[in-house]
Amino acid sequence: MNDIQSPIQKPFVITVASTKGGSAKSTNAANIGAFCAEHGLKTLLIDTDTQPTLSAYFALDYMAPGGIHEFLAYQDVDPSHIISKTAISNLDLIQSNDPTNNVSQMLRNAPDGAIRFSFLLKKLQGYDVIIVDTRGTRDITVDMSVLAADLLFCPILPHTLSAKEFIRGTIGMYQELQTFEAFGFKLPPLKAVANCVDHTNDVKFVLQHLYQLFEQNFGQDKTLLDFHIPNKVAYREAATYSLPVYRHSKAEYEVIKSLCSLLLPQFVTHFGQGFKGE
Ligand SMILES: Nc1ncnc2c1ncn2[C@@H]1O[C@H](COP(=O)(O)OP(=O)(O)O)[C@@H](O)[C@H]1O
Ligand SMILES: [Mg+2]
Repeated sequence: MNDIQSPIQKPFVITVASTKGGSAKSTNAANIGAFCAEHGLKTLLIDTDTQPTLSAYFALDYMAPGGIHEFLAYQDVDPSHIISKTAISNLDLIQSNDPTNNVSQMLRNAPDGAIRFSFLLKKLQGYDVIIVDTRGTRDITVDMSVLAADLLFCPILPHTLSAKEFIRGTIGMYQELQTFEAFGFKLPPLKAVANCVDHTNDVKFVLQHLYQLFEQNFGQDKTLLDFHIPNKVAYREAATYSLPVYRHSKAEYEVIKSLCSLLLPQFVTHFGQGFKGE
């Protein structure tokens, strides 16, 4: 036996958040998670939304009896009780099992409500990447997910009203959570990406304004990536077949690869090794 123990590797936590429903959060969480897993990274998806879109995306090889409720409610719960296994190798899932919003209620009444998740995530071992999906409205479960993240990934729809809501809701939330920095929490850098982009003049116009806004108003901690995800029916179709989009449509492989490389540059050598999923 080797006397020298290898240091326990801390997983890299990406929280996908935007206070706007329908901005492709769950779709991105599923595609990024599958891409990481199929390129050899042990990956865990955590669904904190009361509407379990991410939980329902992939078929499961093993369905744990519990999920997000037990993860947050009980200390030292057995991992096999809360961690499900998807049909994609290396891709695990903590399901959302909170349709009546009891988890938020419980956290709001707990003294450690917004920070408990950060501590619980530190106890999870054996993962390279954890991807946390959140609901599309401000809530304590969104706050806890931002506070626990190493990176905050915000998909934005390039439409005027969605962009305004991003500034009001998502940037507003980020600024409010900065009060936690006085207590030793470091907020994650925010990386936004335009999603569902098509070639209309309106989209071009909104994107120009968004880039200007980021440049003129925000520092290095908040960036709008010089990259976008196209608006394609393949994303909806892939969800229908429970497949990552790059398996349903080969054309999207480079899109998801670029996205993962921008969000997780430390794993870029894995992504260059080619697709192990087939
Ligand atoms: N790039 C895309 N092009 C076209 N449709 C997309 C794209 N990404 C996601 N969608 C579709 O948009 C809808 C909302 O996506 P979803 O991920 O559920 O959003 P959210 O989790 O933010 O509420 C879904 O029907 C999804 O299939
Ligand atoms: Mg969702």
